[in-house]
Amino acid sequence: MSDILLGAFLEDINHAIDGGLSANLIANHSFEGAYVSRRLHTNTIAAVTRRRPRPVSDPLRHWRVRSGTLAAPAVDEAGTGDDASTPLVPGARFARLTSEGAAVVRNVGHARRGAGIGARRGVVYHVDARVRLGSFDGSLVARLVDRRGRALASSTLTLTPDPDHPGWHVATAALRPPRTALVAFEIAARGAGTLDLDEVRLIPADHWGAGDPRWSQGVLRRDLVEAIAELKPRFVRFPGGCIVEGLDCANAYDWKRTVGPLAGRRPDYNLWGLSTRGGDYSQSFQVGYYEYFLLCEDLGAKPLPVVGAGMACQLRATEVLPLDSPEFAAVVQDVLDMIEWATGDPASSPWARLRAEAGHPEPFSLDMIAVGNENAGPQYLHRFRAIREAVRARHPHMDVVLSAGALAWGVEFEQAWEEARRDPRGLIVDEHFYKSPSWVIDAASRYDAYPRDVRVAVGEYAANLPSGLVPAPIRPVPNTFRSALAEAAFLTGVERNADVVAMASFAPLLNLVGHGQWEHNLIDFNPFAVMPTANHHVQRMFAATVRERIVPLDRDGLPPGLLVSATAGAGLSGEVPVRDGLPADDAVAVKLVEVAGRAARVRLRVPGAAEGAPVRVEVLAASDEARNRLRWVGRGRHEVRPRVSRRVTGPDGVVEVKVPGRSVTMVEVDLSAPSRTAE
Ligand code: AHR
Repeated sequence: MSDILLGAFLEDINHAIDGGLSANLIANHSFEGAYVSRRLHTNTIAAVTRRRPRPVSDPLRHWRVRSGTLAAPAVDEAGTGDDASTPLVPGARFARLTSEGAAVVRNVGHARRGAGIGARRGVVYHVDARVRLGSFDGSLVARLVDRRGRALASSTLTLTPDPDHPGWHVATAALRPPRTALVAFEIAARGAGTLDLDEVRLIPADHWGAGDPRWSQGVLRRDLVEAIAELKPRFVRFPGGCIVEGLDCANAYDWKRTVGPLAGRRPDYNLWGLSTRGGDYSQSFQVGYYEYFLLCEDLGAKPLPVVGAGMACQLRATEVLPLDSPEFAAVVQDVLDMIEWATGDPASSPWARLRAEAGHPEPFSLDMIAVGNENAGPQYLHRFRAIREAVRARHPHMDVVLSAGALAWGVEFEQAWEEARRDPRGLIVDEHFYKSPSWVIDAASRYDAYPRDVRVAVGEYAANLPSGLVPAPIRPVPNTFRSALAEAAFLTGVERNADVVAMASFAPLLNLVGHGQWEHNLIDFNPFAVMPTANHHVQRMFAATVRERIVPLDRDGLPPGLLVSATAGAGLSGEVPVRDGLPADDAVAVKLVEVAGRAARVRLRVPGAAEGAPVRVEVLAASDEARNRLRWVGRGRHEVRPRVSRRVTGPDGVVEVKVPGRSVTMVEVDLSAPSRTAE
């Protein structure tokens, strides 16, 4: 069976990255605010509307000024004119603050309104900005201010000349709030004159990657990385999702603007801003390809980068780059350059040198790429072939993933499978579905009927739609135990067919509560806390216990509403201790998912299990409507939580388990333990 069966899908939707995983708490940190003009609902088919959305540049969005004035001067791109208009790096913008004696600039982070930065008691927050003093004569103070205007922490910024950017200073301070609160970040200028400000960062010292020389550029929010790590993902699919293709080809995700020193990464608008008031969603790219590959490395997961196929999101637009155009040739070259950047030798490759300079001279592991996201049809297949051939010519061992489109059925879906069957080397076909819980339960048997010589990646799925007729545009409903149970049922089919299903990842992954564009996600978070959904518990129960071979099951006597799968061998997730102090390098993990609402008593006889072998049982049961709730502040309320118990096998390796109606039960039996009788 696949050794990378269950993974994660990371896309910057619901502020998963900017406002989430990216540890910089400042919104529009580089005064380049890139937004989009119109508000449309998710999945609106903009191709048939007349008013196309357009990019909006709003360099001062998310910043407020008191007393003084704040402006975003036109920049001297060439850097040849007046020094005072030269940006930090070519193409960058900056803000100009004028103070008549006292002025304050303020940023509330990614919150829609009010003080929205979560400051935690006792944690040090490092401030790091670039300042050009101009005519300013005075001091600068950084502070965290609560909703009543009280400064919780403040410190004078220390300025040292920036060796890399003549004329600019590096401004730093450390702030330690004495209590936990929602705050705004402020820089107060005490003195008169004009100064320039750029690249403002406010980062908690306990971020992921702290002290690790590899994490020299963007850094991540620790509790979110830990929540993803709990899923033991064997691969991470990134960066999307629709943002791979973009609203048009100019907005397609460009990996090259997401690597290298942070000041050189130019933001772009995020197409999910279409579903956000004021189009207020920017991709700052402080977490880009470099950080993604590092994250995979830290998680022990394989990267599955999704590259564009030279066509815009087919649900929203019709733009397609001609096959013989220089623009399409550039798309192909970008893919080759990306592989070179990730795996090349810094001694001979400029792209690989960029990686080495960031702190990763060793090549990253990369042996598969996906071409296109939810693209389908003849235009896509032509472009797919061109990219596939170029990749295979240079990297014959690279696995290539073909998109079967947004629907896991229909003409274009069949065309994708035909293409896969024709491919002499074999492709992995990426199927997506967002459906109702009952559809997803039925899909547990979907792969039983597939030929055994194909490979499927279920790159996105969720039981997130209401049952019955689905209104257009599609609106996912919030997570409940009902959807989690359906996904568990589906995962029994994935495990049972893990010879055909190479990969599966739930979508989407992260959601900043109250700021999302998609209701049904795996991990909710607010500025202070992370809340695993019921669906997260299901994913973790499966992924953390999946093992290296499929176990055939004798279903004799099992009721029809009970779906079962089992795997055995060493743990694929690297660590699956069955009992403390005894890592089981050989165990059986059985998943029992009851969907009919009829409790059952199940006797599992596990061949090879000794009498007295340790058993770990984890049960997830709740009412259909139960959900784990998180608000903008606080730690939230759990309505769905697993119960874990431990016991030992009886004679003949038999385990008796009570399976509640509508529940997910995981039974793990340690086969490596010596038998009690032998002892
Ligand atoms: O997961 C959310 C979106 O759903 C993805 O961006 C897209 O691929 C799919 O339509």
